[in-house]
Amino acid sequence: MNKLLFVANWKSHKLTKDVHPYLWTLTPLLSKLDLSNKEIVVCPSFPTLEIFTQFVRVNDLPIGVGAQNISAYDEGAYTGEVNAEQVKEFAGYVIIGHSERKKYLKETPEDIKLKVEKAKQAGLTVILCVQDENDTVVDGADIIAYEPPTAIGTGKPDSPENIAKVFQKLYDRYPSVRFLYGGSVKPENIKDFVSVPHLQGFLIGGASLDPDEFYQLIAQC
Ligand code: PGA
Repeated sequence: MNKLLFVANWKSHKLTKDVHPYLWTLTPLLSKLDLSNKEIVVCPSFPTLEIFTQFVRVNDLPIGVGAQNISAYDEGAYTGEVNAEQVKEFAGYVIIGHSERKKYLKETPEDIKLKVEKAKQAGLTVILCVQDENDTVVDGADIIAYEPPTAIGTGKPDSPENIAKVFQKLYDRYPSVRFLYGGSVKPENIKDFVSVPHLQGFLIGGASLDPDEFYQLIAQC
């Protein structure tokens, strides 16, 4: 039985000076919890990844670290890109194909396929985002996060019934993948989703930015 996975997606938030205070608050809160059946991963922005990971390693915290994106290319002359091997120095996970990247950065199914390949070659655990059950799923995804765009950052999560339908369709095709739900998951509503069949965790944006709120989410499950 997999542990329930809580993935924090910080998106383009926070500066390096915010990282230690966040962890100083979160760590004692987490120590109050039985984490034997829970797994926590935080995905900071690239500039905050190193400082975050160093703090986690030095203090041996029960927190995994992920990146929010990687390059579709290897090391080389790709200005502005961060490749999978560079990510691997600081993170074990990577989010690929988030709908905000599709919308604002025009990321294509081909880009996503290449990114998943590069991530797997580097030994990263891939959290692949899909918008619905018909979205591109690339071989090699370890975790699929179902995130309907209408639910992201809107305060209007999908219904547990619909999430169950989407998961069932995905599960029929990808039975060995872990399934997360993301989109307006908050401390007030997280309990509505925990018993959805095949759900094995959450991808959390806004509510992960405040360590108390993130802790509340975890504590309720
Ligand atoms: P949200 O974002 O929790 O702020 O809706 C989720 C996500 O986009 O990963």
